[in-house]
Parts: sequence; structure tokens; C-alpha cells
Amino acid sequence: MGEYKFDTIKVRGGYNPKDHNDSVSVPIYATASFEVGEAERFERLTSLSEEGYIYSRLSNPTVSVLENRIAALDGGVAAVGVASGMAAITYSLLAVAEGGGRILTTHQLYGGTVDALKKLYPKFGIKIDKIDNDSDIQEFRKAIKEDTKAIFIESISNPNAVISDIEKIAKIAHENDIPLIVDNTFATPYLFNPIKHGADIVVYSATKALSGHGNVIGGIIVDSGNFNWANGKYPQFTESYFTLKDLNGNERSYIDAFKEGAFAGKIRLDYLTYFGAVLSPFDAYLILIGLETLSERVQKQISNTQKIVNYLKTEEGVSWISYPTIETSPYKSLADKYFSKGIGSTFTFGFNGNSEQIYKLINSVKLFSYQANVGDARSLIVNTVKTTHGELNEEQLKLAKIPQETIRLSIGLEDAEDLINDLKQAFREALR
Ligand SMILES: Cc1ncc(COP(=O)(O)O)c(C=O)c1O
Repeated sequence: MGEYKFDTIKVRGGYNPKDHNDSVSVPIYATASFEVGEAERFERLTSLSEEGYIYSRLSNPTVSVLENRIAALDGGVAAVGVASGMAAITYSLLAVAEGGGRILTTHQLYGGTVDALKKLYPKFGIKIDKIDNDSDIQEFRKAIKEDTKAIFIESISNPNAVISDIEKIAKIAHENDIPLIVDNTFATPYLFNPIKHGADIVVYSATKALSGHGNVIGGIIVDSGNFNWANGKYPQFTESYFTLKDLNGNERSYIDAFKEGAFAGKIRLDYLTYFGAVLSPFDAYLILIGLETLSERVQKQISNTQKIVNYLKTEEGVSWISYPTIETSPYKSLADKYFSKGIGSTFTFGFNGNSEQIYKLINSVKLFSYQANVGDARSLIVNTVKTTHGELNEEQLKLAKIPQETIRLSIGLEDAEDLINDLKQAFREALR
């Protein structure tokens, strides 16, 4: 599909009806395993000498269409579908820091990621370093240590829509022979292509705008194919394994077996196969259906978001707004540099009232749903400190720039005027 443009790939990429009984819609292959047919074929399949399916924990034709479509949209060589965005992050970071080491990141991350990095990774021998001032790019350079294995950032952060200068961060990563891993969940491949700007691995929570209807939990890992895993820092890609033997029984490494797709190959054959957070074919199908309208949904959501931001600027119940298209935003120039189509539909604002009034605001909205998701077709509201970032203590909240009065909105596909009227009446109730 290389010659086609984004909107063509998003509905047709990775799929040829001729290979699937001429089915126009991608079929759901609801099967645990596949009939191998003859004994010799099993060995051809496991030695990767023949392409095909064995068992749905390794790969499944419905999931493959999604993987190939996302890889094409992002300009990667391969992708792996997993059961959630958290699985995508976890598998990528564990694979890159296998055997121990450090991950360098920022304070601008989804709350679940923050807590996992703090609580769990050190127990697996992986230490986490964080940049305090994400707008000082030199901090990344200074914080890299001998055993740092990757830099990990969100392209548009949860919840404040903070934007990173990805090209500069990628350059620093590559000067130090380490990959840049980017969580591109908020942006989606429609708004931003991290690989084009130097990212080596891209991860998604497909639960959000990628699928867009709040009806599925899923994740995707995309391998750019650009990183040199044979640079001496990553023996897990150069060591030979019995399970990667060729048809003649010669053991191979991930680089031998998968060439430039070594990272995706390792994720599939080690992490997906043995840790098992597999994406179900039914969920892959739901994500594929959602993906068909990605551009159209995101465009309308951005247009709605801009109208709501414009209204909030005039609302006395609002003390600040964190959305990078606003002239005073410190991220405005990065937004202009990287996001020509807009910054998506999730942002935060400060509520001018006490904690009791925050509850009143949340309890007074009628159209906005109070739930901890984003990128849904419906508009959502949360009090960030208690929900999506409820794992963060006071100091972490301060470093993440999430004060107590923070309200996060994810704007959906409803009529913008109805949404504005809903917020107006909720503000009046809360501030009465
Ligand atoms: C930026 C970001 N990455 C990853 C995740 C985790 O995704 P999932 O809920 O699909 O595991 C979230 C969830 O809210 C998120 O906001």
C-alpha cells in the first residue's frame, strides 16, 4: 500500500479480499489454533521459512490485518497487537531493558504509566530517571547514563497535552546509541507520525482515539526498523536462541531471523507468546472498524475542541487552560512545528472553585460522561487528581504540573453548541 495516501490505507491497508473468500469486511477469525495439515509444514512455519498461522497467541489473521494497517499508517516495518495500551508500553520497555538498566522519561505521562514505572519496574531491575524540566532539551543529554537503554515519552501528554520536541530528543537518543520510544496514543497516526521525526518504537493504547468508540481495550507496538540493535548494548537481539532455529536446526538471533523487524519479532515470539497479553480477533475487528473513520472523527473532534476552548477562555469559572493552540501556551511553537492538523481533543483547565465545587461541576454535567477514558465519540470529563492520575502523590502531581483544580476534558462528536451549553449550566450550578 506504499503508494497510497493515509485515508486509503486506513480503510484498505493490509487486506486483500481475495485471500479471505472475497469478504469485503475483514473477517473475525474466531479460532484458537490453525490446522497445520502436514508434519513437515509445522517445522516450516516455526522456522519462519513459510508464512502462516499456528496458534492465536502468536498471531491471528484478523489481528494481522490491523497490525499491517497500523504499520503502514505509521511507516513502520512491522507491528504487534496486544491486549491493552499498558501491555504495549510494558512489553516495549521490558524488551529494551531486558536484563536490567535504566529508562529515561519525563513527568508528563499517563498516571498508570507513572505508577508502574515507580512501583514495578525497579523490582524487575529497571531503574527510572526523569527529566524535571521537559522544555530544557539538554536535560535529556545530561541524564543519560552508561546503562540507559531507552528514552520514553508521550508525543502529546496525558492530561495536559504537553508536547515534546521529538526530533531533538531522538537526536540525543541516537547520539547515545539508544532508541526513542514514543507513546503516540493521544495523537494517533493521523495527527502525528513519530517515526518520521526520529522515533524508533511507537506504542498505542488502541482503546482511545485509534478505535474511537469506547468499546474496546487494545494496544499496538510499531517497529520503525531503523534502530541498530547490534550496537553492543542489546545482547537480547544478537544472542542465538534454540527457538529461533532455521529449517536445518541452526540457532539464530532475532536480528538473524527478523532482520530490520527484530524488535517486533522479539515482542511477538518472547513477550506475546510467553507473557500472553494477546489481542483478541474480535477486539482487533472493532479497532479496524473504528480506524476506518479515524481522520473524519479526529477532524470533527478538533473542531469541537477549539470551539469549547474558545468558550472556556471567556468562562469565569476557568482559571487556566492547557491546550497548545492557545497563544500563551509554552508549547505553541512546538504545536506549530509538529502538528499541522491540530492537537487532538483532550486537554485540561483549572476550575476556579474549591474541591466541593469541583464535585458539583462534575455532578452537574448532563451530556459529558464522567469516566476515565479519552478519544471516545462521546465527550468525557474527569477530575484528574482523583482519577486518571489518582496514583500520584502530592510531589509527583507538582512535578507533573497537575494542580488540585485540574479538570480534563475529552471532546467527542456531539454538537459543539450542546456541549458548551452543558458546561455553562454546570459551571453556574457549581459556582452558585
Ligand atoms: C497516554 C496513554 N497511554 C497508555 C494508556 C493505557 O492504555 P490502556 O488503558 O489501553 O491500557 C493510557 C490510558 O489511559 C494513556 O492515556
